[in-house]
Amino acid sequence: MKDTFGRTVDYLRFSLTKRCQLTCPHCAKNEGGCLKESEMKTDTVIRLSRLFGECGFRKIRFTGGEPLLRNDICEIISAVSDMPFYDDIALTTNGQLLALLASDLKQSGLHRVNISLNTLNAQRSKEMFGADLSNTFSGIEAVFRHGLTPLKINTVILKGQNDDEIADFIALAHEYPLTVRFIELMPMGDSKEEGISGAQILRMYPQLLPVENKADGVAMNYRESNAKGTVGFINPISSCFCDSCSRMRLTADGTLRPCLGNNLEIPLVDVMYNNDLIKQRIQDAVRQKPCKNSFSKAFITNRTMNNLGG
Ligand code: 5AD
Repeated sequence: MKDTFGRTVDYLRFSLTKRCQLTCPHCAKNEGGCLKESEMKTDTVIRLSRLFGECGFRKIRFTGGEPLLRNDICEIISAVSDMPFYDDIALTTNGQLLALLASDLKQSGLHRVNISLNTLNAQRSKEMFGADLSNTFSGIEAVFRHGLTPLKINTVILKGQNDDEIADFIALAHEYPLTVRFIELMPMGDSKEEGISGAQILRMYPQLLPVENKADGVAMNYRESNAKGTVGFINPISSCFCDSCSRMRLTADGTLRPCLGNNLEIPLVDVMYNNDLIKQRIQDAVRQKPCKNSFSKAFITNRTMNNLGG
């Protein structure tokens, strides 16, 4: 589908749950009430995925919270991969359960994963994010073993918390055939964290050379000479990529969000009983997609990222 600014909107980011085992300060706040019982049922997720496909969506990413906490994740992926619509089926995960699930996910038809990883230090991982780093690395190995590639690692650098690890992340992209993407911190919920811009990181590491096919939609890509992988920068704050945005978000509570950096939302819950009405709402949401995010205008949202799916 085209929006009013001529952009093709064909990429659905579907948040399956607000639940997550981790405690990343920039992503979740403890809202209580992240109950499994209030989540969409398996057949609703599958039905909505089909309706988006019928509206012209061709790329789907399941997010959360942590999507692998859903027991039906393989059933969902399998049903979606049987549909004729999607040529890219992906998932964003914290990696904690990936080693256990990678084989089943691959067999279900998942193409690839992005892993959120904010530290390479085991103790910090436990203390700051509540994550077991050895699980994440077993997950990364499993991704390569089962071919859930190309692998992207999403990293948010927070001032005074993990900004001493930038070189280590660049080294990770030297050693492994993956892309480490530094994502600028976005002001979600009431998080008090401070971020670092992509340009600041680039200035500190002049050995990062632009990759020929530099932009992949949202990230600008760089590489150290002789590195196996690449380093990407996603800079929603310092420079936006709204002109090439093809995304629509569906929150875990069944609300369409045409732009992460704009509080316009279109609910689906009240029309969930009627497929035609749902499709109309999807088309309305595409038509209303804002031209540009509002991050430069003292943007405030109550929604945290675990709610929006990133
Ligand atoms: N700003 C930027 N990125 C964030 N993410 C979570 N919260 C924020 C935030 N406040 C990242 C996650 C995930 C990606 C989809 O968004 O780490 O990898």
